[in-house]
Amino acid sequence: MARVISVAGTKGGVGKSTTAYILAGRLAEMGHQVGLLDADPNHAVGDWHAVGEIKGITVASNITEQNIGDEVAKLEDAGADFIIIDLPGMRGMVQVFAFGLSDLIVIPTQTSRSDVEQALGLVHMIERNRKTIQNAKVRLLFTRISPSYTTGVDTHAYAQIAEHGAPVMTTKLYERKHFKEMTYTGLLPSASGGRATRSDREAVANIGEIVTEILSVLEDNTVSS
Ligand SMILES: Nc1ncnc2c1ncn2[C@@H]1O[C@H](COP(=O)(O)OP(=O)(O)OP(=O)(O)O)[C@@H](O)[C@H]1O
Ligand SMILES: [Mg+2]
Repeated sequence: MARVISVAGTKGGVGKSTTAYILAGRLAEMGHQVGLLDADPNHAVGDWHAVGEIKGITVASNITEQNIGDEVAKLEDAGADFIIIDLPGMRGMVQVFAFGLSDLIVIPTQTSRSDVEQALGLVHMIERNRKTIQNAKVRLLFTRISPSYTTGVDTHAYAQIAEHGAPVMTTKLYERKHFKEMTYTGLLPSASGGRATRSDREAVANIGEIVTEILSVLEDNTVSS
């Protein structure tokens, strides 16, 4: 059985597609077969993959509430180890079905107040609907965080999440030009070759840390949500 990860949020532009692509790309680089479901009408991840064609990723586009179950089943039958679902930044039926199919829901959020409130709202909605969403663990992921300093807004956001006891990933996705470049190259940042800079290595390491934490959440049977 494939492990299914939804990348979701009700806020636009917080890094959902970036996170979905990073997860799919790194898992594929590790040798896994990865299905990437593009449920966003803007086709971000499908378009990126069409440029870079990372080996090991199979994209299914135009995913809606009508076809998501069939497309997950098809990818599973084709031998996918992981299925990553990139969801649009709004509530809708495709999200509800995606959540029902998921082992893990990752909710990327930036640290500004409205982003955190919307992310917390989604966590609470999932918790109130546990009869429908039975298997999925949930993790917030802070995105676009400065790698070199912590702002007052960041501190406030971390405190707000802790106050609500919302499950949050220890690893954060840092703000880096590499994650923008990816949208043009369709490839993950690379640090191989003599010309790699320190920031190239740090971007690659950041992706590695995120994927390692995601895999350990999926494997940890002692935590139920
Ligand atoms: N960690 C990051 N560092 C630098 N740029 C980033 C980072 N994360 C996202 N971006 C940039 O921010 C923009 C929005 O990111 P992305 O498309 O991943 O958000 P989204 O939540 O999927 O948006 P939408 O709601 O429109 O689907 C993109 O231009 C992306 O390249
Ligand atoms: Mg997107």
